[in-house]
Amino acid sequence: QRYRDPTAGDKMNPFAEQEAWEDHQIGKATLNFGSKNKKRMSDDYQFVFEDQIEFIKASVMDGDKFADEHAELREMSMAQSAFEKLQEERKSLPMYRYRDELLDAIEKYQVLVIVGETGSGKTTQIPQYLHEAGYTKRGKVGCTQPRRVAAMSVAARVSQEMGVKLGHEVGYSIRFEDCTSDKTVLKYMTDGMLLREFLGEPDLASYSVVMVDEAHERTLSTDILFGLVKDIARFRPDLKLLISSATLDAEKFSDYFDSAPIFKIPGRRYPVEIHYTKAPEADYLDAAIVTALQIHVTQSPGDILVFLTGQEEIETAEEIMKHRIRGLGTKIAELIICPIYANLPTELQAKIFEPTPEGARKVVLATNIAETSLTIDGIKYVIDPGFCKMKSYNPRTGMESLLVTPISKASANQRAGRSGRTGPGKCFRLYTAYNYYNDLDDNTVPEIQRTNLANVVLMLKSLGIHDLLHFDFMDPPPSEALLKALELLFALSALNKLGELTKVGRRMAEFPLDPMLSKMIVASEKYKCSDDIISIAAMLNIGNSIFYRPKDKQVHADNARMNFHAGNVGDHIALLKVYSSWKETNYSTQWCYENYIQVRSMKRARDIRDQLEGLLERVEIELISNPNDLEAIKKSITSGFFPHSARLQKNGSYRTVKHPQTVHIHPSSGLAQVLPRWVVYHELVLTSKEYMRQVTELKPEWLVEIAPHYYQLKDVEDSSTKKMPRGQGRAS
Ligand code: CDP
Ligand code: MG
Repeated sequence: QRYRDPTAGDKMNPFAEQEAWEDHQIGKATLNFGSKNKKRMSDDYQFVFEDQIEFIKASVMDGDKFADEHAELREMSMAQSAFEKLQEERKSLPMYRYRDELLDAIEKYQVLVIVGETGSGKTTQIPQYLHEAGYTKRGKVGCTQPRRVAAMSVAARVSQEMGVKLGHEVGYSIRFEDCTSDKTVLKYMTDGMLLREFLGEPDLASYSVVMVDEAHERTLSTDILFGLVKDIARFRPDLKLLISSATLDAEKFSDYFDSAPIFKIPGRRYPVEIHYTKAPEADYLDAAIVTALQIHVTQSPGDILVFLTGQEEIETAEEIMKHRIRGLGTKIAELIICPIYANLPTELQAKIFEPTPEGARKVVLATNIAETSLTIDGIKYVIDPGFCKMKSYNPRTGMESLLVTPISKASANQRAGRSGRTGPGKCFRLYTAYNYYNDLDDNTVPEIQRTNLANVVLMLKSLGIHDLLHFDFMDPPPSEALLKALELLFALSALNKLGELTKVGRRMAEFPLDPMLSKMIVASEKYKCSDDIISIAAMLNIGNSIFYRPKDKQVHADNARMNFHAGNVGDHIALLKVYSSWKETNYSTQWCYENYIQVRSMKRARDIRDQLEGLLERVEIELISNPNDLEAIKKSITSGFFPHSARLQKNGSYRTVKHPQTVHIHPSSGLAQVLPRWVVYHELVLTSKEYMRQVTELKPEWLVEIAPHYYQLKDVEDSSTKKMPRGQGRAS
């Protein structure tokens, strides 16, 4: 792929040819912004699980390593002045002026909707104010975040501001990672984690305040939380409820919470100049890179924030940018490239918050995470290609997919606003004004209306909420999606015919996993291989970041990987072999290097596995290892994943059994060349084709044996002579 030279002065050069950009003018669109620009999701997308963040272990006063006393003292006084500086910074936030007023309002009303621009200090300050005002004497202050990275980084920041060690008074809790202690009074957590806390503590008795933050994001978990906290607030008058949001459509939240008052924090916001492209961009990544470099070369100091859709795209952009900066020669000021996405290793996350050195400029390449969850100081230029990755769900087939989709107007405005926090800013939209006004939706559709609900339905059922159709949803999900979820849970034996939770369902709900994975684990009791199955589950959770494949050693890496596939055991068992072999070497790092395996991913798998082991104990399933009985292991997998079965077609493609559609074995699978007649797969990923990833062979009679209420003999009969149902195109 070729990229244009940013200095060539072509029409992409926004400053050489000013008229290429229009100010708030409606131009003529030549290309529809809709489906044509939809890009398929990247190969490296992880379908259900993307939990791969390491700890943020930051603490201001970690003086242990300083042996000499003077150094220690020096360090302490430096920490002291850093601490004082942080206190000054706290006072300079827009929030600070309203501290007492806000505390009064919280005292007076049980439920308060709080609205303030991103960066005004809602997330970091309000919990501290509550602590200072004594609320934490009565119970914890919990603050939910839709994103794991935000929960961790905000907790780290607040612990610094309070001068305490992260995990002590201030902690965070995200799936598979609890960085809190008995001391913790300010708890930042993902919305999904608070949801899970309802299972153990249905009235949230240990909390004095719950702050549902970033409410405007309307994630599935946040929407469910709304219903649950609204309910408990009725019988817990001492519980304070704060709903905070960065956008101004707070009326909706207020209406939902029985006309709760709205507390507005006037933002300090500088004007932002919006520029549009004259014609739609065929390649927004290229356009974004060119624009960033143009800004760097021609514009006054100030950092740049570029919104991209995912890790792979960000890495590509980083590579191209580095290459092109070299091409610009040495006369150009330094451009520091900072990527930020959910799976970025922690060491690198901190880099985006570091102040930019004098004379240099920072360009932050971010996913949607920088839209409202994280505030990066010093941003003056925003480049907005107008896309994000979004989940969509087809309730008919039960297929979930992640597509690069145009953003909403609300998102576009949030993005633009990120440039005007500390001074006047500029936002470059890589789409036309016509696109903006005519093609973008006003608001993003809430996740609850475009996702698989099986997880949430199981959770609500475990909380004793049976009548889901009448649950107090802010925006109800489509009823087909609810039905589909009930159907799946029934098929997995988590619910009985009356829709009541079964013993299996109750056990499944203990695992913070997708119901199919939970079922696989619960079923392993019967097949006496629980030990092996939780290793597989932990490894599946890590997704596709286990093996690496350096460009210059691809053959070696592939050979190393194929060793685990000896005997065509299938991908699940290969994952088990990787885990067990690593364990046998006493978790050796060297072994990982030799086998082209990412040690960081393995350590994470071990953490997850340990927690799953604890949960097994909780549901009283004995830990039994049975690594040589491959049939038992495969049957456990099939017990959870039977809805994901497919059979080979004459042409080498596969056809899913229940909602027939054509799929293929992913080239990275150990079975890609083997093509067994029947397979069960972990997930589908749509790239150039619809691919099954993590595939294991099965015997068709298992389907009828394991899921007689789901498959009948006629579904699995060898029908090479019969015709398959035709005309069922791919789910849109
Ligand atoms: O929640 P809201 O968007 O209103 O603001 P916040 O997240 O509380 O951020 C307030 C300020 O804290 C930001 O302007 C950042 O300067 C700073 N902050 C930071 O430096 N590092 C973080 N991880 C989070 C916030
Ligand atoms: Mg915030």
